[in-house]
Amino acid sequence: MSVLIIGGAGYIGSHTVKLFQERGLDVVVLDNLSTGHRELVDVEHFYEGDCRDSEILSQIFTNHNIDTVVHFAALSLVGVSMTNPYDYYHNNVYGAIILLGEMVKHNVKNIVFSSTAAVYGEPNNIPIMEEDPTFPTNPYGETKLAMEKMMSWFDTAYGIKYVALRYFNAAGADSSGKIGELHQPETHLIPLILQVPLGKRDQISIFGTDYPTDDGTCVRDYIHVNDLADAHFLAFQYLAKDKTSNTFNLGNGKGFSVLEVIDTARKVTGHPIPATEEGRRPGDPAVLVASSQKAEKILGWKPKLQLEDIISSAWNFHKNNKIL
Ligand code: UFG
Repeated sequence: MSVLIIGGAGYIGSHTVKLFQERGLDVVVLDNLSTGHRELVDVEHFYEGDCRDSEILSQIFTNHNIDTVVHFAALSLVGVSMTNPYDYYHNNVYGAIILLGEMVKHNVKNIVFSSTAAVYGEPNNIPIMEEDPTFPTNPYGETKLAMEKMMSWFDTAYGIKYVALRYFNAAGADSSGKIGELHQPETHLIPLILQVPLGKRDQISIFGTDYPTDDGTCVRDYIHVNDLADAHFLAFQYLAKDKTSNTFNLGNGKGFSVLEVIDTARKVTGHPIPATEEGRRPGDPAVLVASSQKAEKILGWKPKLQLEDIISSAWNFHKNNKIL
C-alpha cells in the first residue's frame, strides 16, 4: 500500500513526506510546483502535475496501490484570496471535486486534509473548539470550509473517510536544516522577521498596536511544522484503524503576541531586529488560539515544540538554505 501526498513539495507537505518515509511508508508525490520546490522532496515516485487534472490522478491511482491521500495542494494566502477569489475557488474547490471524483472511481477510501483556523473567522471564544461556529471572513477560509463539507457528503454517499486538520499558525523547520518555509512572496510573520538578521530587509512591520490584547498586537498560536506532520501520520493511522471521519484543531494552545514573537527572535538570533508600528492589516482577528484537546484525546497527538524551538529551527533553516 502507498500514500499519495498531493502538494508534497510545499512547506508542510515536504515535512510530512519526510516523516512518512522515516516511518516506513511508500510515498508517491503529486505537485504542480506552482509554490512547491522539487528540491524539498527526496522521493522515488514524483509526478509533476495538478490535482485538477483527472488524467494524472487516474494514472497515479492505476500505477500505485494507494489507500490514502494526504491533500495539501491549495492556494493559501488570505490577502490574495480577497482580490482573486476565482483562483482560490478554482484551485481549491474545483481541485477537490476532481480529486474526490477520481478517488470514488478508483475506490480510494481515505483522505487526510489540510484545513485551517481561517474556517472560524473572528472567533467568539478562546481557545477555539472544533464545534465552534464557522464563519470565514475571506475566500481562502471559505474554500477550505467548502472542501470540508464536500468531503462530509462524499463520506455519506460513497464512504470516503476523511480527517480534516485545522492548523493554526504553522512555523519552524525540520532539524536537518534541509527543508523549511519558502513562500514567494513571503507574508508570514516568522520568516519575515528572520529576513532582518539575514540582511534581506531593514525592519519588521508590526501590523496594528491597538488590538484588545495585553500589548495591543495580535495574538496567534504558533505550531511547529514537524508537530503538524506528526498529526498527519496519526490521522493516517486513525483512518486505517477507526474508519471514521473527523475534524481536529492543531495548535499549541498558547498564544503569543507579535511583540513577543519579535522579542523571541531577537533572543534566538542575537540581532536587534528593528520594528516599526503600522496600521492593522485588514481581516486579522485579534486573537486565534486553539484548543487541541480533541486531537490529544482521540489521535494521541501532543505538540513537542514551543515558540523558541520554532524560531530556532526556522533560523537554522534560513541561515543555511541555498534554494532561494
Ligand atoms: N504580522 C505583522 N507583520 C508582518 C506579518 C504579519 O505584524 O510583517 C502579524 C499579522 O498581522 C498577524 C500575525 O503577525 O497578526 C501573524 O501573521 P501571519 O501572516 O504569519 O499569519 P496569519 O495569522 O495571518 O495566518 C494564519 C495562517 C493562515 C490562516 C490564518 C487564519 O498562516 O493560513 O492564520 O487567520 F488562514
